[in-house]
Amino acid sequence: MKALVIQGGFGLDNLAVTDHPDPVPGPGQVVVRVRAASLNYRDLMIAKGQYNPRMPLPRVLGSDGAGEVAAVGAGVTRWAVGDRVAGCFFQNWAGGPVTEAATKGALGGDRDGMIAELALLEEGGLVPVPGGLTFEEAATLPCAAVTAWHALTAGGCGPGKTVLLLGTGGVSVFALQLAKAMGARALITSGSDAKLARALELGADAGTNYKADPDWDKWVRSQTGGEGVDLVVEVGGAGTLERSARAARVGGFVALIGVLAGGGGFNPMGVLMRSLTLRGIFVGSRAMFEDLNRLIAGEGLKPVIDRTFPLAEAPEAMRYLESGSHFGKVVVNVE
Ligand SMILES: NC(=O)c1ccc[n+]([C@@H]2O[C@H](COP(=O)([O-])OP(=O)(O)OC[C@H]3O[C@@H](n4cnc5c(N)ncnc54)[C@H](OP(=O)(O)O)[C@@H]3O)[C@@H](O)[C@H]2O)c1
Repeated sequence: MKALVIQGGFGLDNLAVTDHPDPVPGPGQVVVRVRAASLNYRDLMIAKGQYNPRMPLPRVLGSDGAGEVAAVGAGVTRWAVGDRVAGCFFQNWAGGPVTEAATKGALGGDRDGMIAELALLEEGGLVPVPGGLTFEEAATLPCAAVTAWHALTAGGCGPGKTVLLLGTGGVSVFALQLAKAMGARALITSGSDAKLARALELGADAGTNYKADPDWDKWVRSQTGGEGVDLVVEVGGAGTLERSARAARVGGFVALIGVLAGGGGFNPMGVLMRSLTLRGIFVGSRAMFEDLNRLIAGEGLKPVIDRTFPLAEAPEAMRYLESGSHFGKVVVNVE
């Protein structure tokens, strides 16, 4: 089969769409004929050796994909050939609280991933494609949408709450769509006025350009009667965390998710003086994915796909993601 593989060393120059052995399902395993995959910032970090510099190579990239069950191993009862499925980021986290074991077995990192014609998954590491979604749309969900859902539900998002979203990448655009579907007010930042306009069209209540307005935490407080937001979906990391803490209300919740804005020190004074809850979020379980899919199907939500590349151009798709010019998700079509 063809797959997007990192081999011979880390770095985007070592990415290639190349032949890779076809997977064979063992007991309790399923092989999926992937129809579409999607890219995440994590894939860039993995390819550059920033995620796990000791990861053995070669490795098929990609945590996110959807397709049809092509073969099942002995003892598989949950799935039959032809089922329309999406893979779960963590193959061994069916539900319940996160554990050390649950966060092992991540696709496209701990084991081969989904940017491939065929993918080997565990029987418990799949969900049905939500009704109404194409394979390309379903392929956007496993990492970014599940993470956004986990953050919003953990932070008590709902009617009467105000959430802050940083930038307009995959996680933040899903968080915008989901927060609005959950009845919350959504504030968003972006480095691009054109992307802010798109976010407003998608339902954001207000936005500001963090490049033109580096004191965006003050803007956030001005939008909330001086109090700050209930919940921050924090994808910037060290470079934004202090401002995010200042943008949250006393007693607010900051979901720590990403590392997009490198650098910056972090002074914890704001966190303790504002009595904030800082909570690390690491994607989520299959049960969270299933809950998310019920909301997607019920609300008729459609993931925002910025651009689709054919599998043969997957390395170019990675460079496009790296450029940060996208809004929402970048997809690889594996038809
Ligand atoms: N913890 C987890 O389980 C988990 C899961 C998924 C993702 N993540 C992490 O979350 C982050 C986002 O992932 P993603 O896949 O959504 O990334 P992405 O799609 O590549 O997001 C890129 C966008 O982020 C925005 N951005 C970049 N620098 C920014 C800054 N300084 N302040 C605000 N926004 C900034 C830009 O939006 P504008 O052009 O609009 O400014 C950029 O287009 C990454 O660090 C990723 O590793 C973590």
